Amino acid sequence: MKIRPSLPEEAAVLTQIAHDAKRHWGYPENWIQHWQEDLTISSDFISNNLVYVGEHENMIVGFYALVVGGQQAELEHMWVAPAYIGTGVGKELFIHAMQTAAGDDVSQVGITADPNAEGFYKRMGARRIGEVSSEIDGQKRVLPRLTVETSS
Ligand SMILES: CC(C)(COP(=O)(O)OP(=O)(O)OC[C@H]1O[C@@H](n2cnc3c(N)ncnc32)[C@H](O)[C@@H]1OP(=O)(O)O)[C@@H](O)C(=O)NCCC(=O)NCCS
Repeated sequence: MKIRPSLPEEAAVLTQIAHDAKRHWGYPENWIQHWQEDLTISSDFISNNLVYVGEHENMIVGFYALVVGGQQAELEHMWVAPAYIGTGVGKELFIHAMQTAAGDDVSQVGITADPNAEGFYKRMGARRIGEVSSEIDGQKRVLPRLTVETSS
């Protein structure tokens, strides 16, 4: 897999991958609609942040986005196209993301994870530091809050 910076004109493709990946966990469609804004990647977002895609046979199979603020960054997006989930794409993207962050003088990366993805992040070396509460459809939803120290 080749990892390269995303282009602003790829916004629609990345938005589709984010939606498809989120659906992988079997959430009801109205929840997906509720999260639509969070799952939408704009051209401006790509231009203004560190957004990288993983490409395999000329197809984008996953991407990540880091939003940097000083020595801290937020891993705001980490999505793998469903056909490639569990094939090592996420691991390669994650390692690349941490190298990108370190290269940008970021020492700590924060992640508010989907509960289903927490195991992945922990496997990648992230540490749980708390949780973020939200509510959807009258149901309480607790999201793990994680951090990773980069080698910067
Ligand atoms: C979470 C996600 C990014 C992981 O990427 P992936 O390509 O499926 O993961 P990989 O195949 O690279 O797995 C890397 C390692 O993490 C483990 N792992 C992967 N997903 C896991 C999970 N959900 N829970 C626990 N461990 C997991 C793998 O077993 C593997 O371990 P190994 O190195 O011992 O073999 C991907 O599954 C995805 O996009 N999921 C749907 C959307 C989502 O929730 N994204 C995160 C939003 S916060």
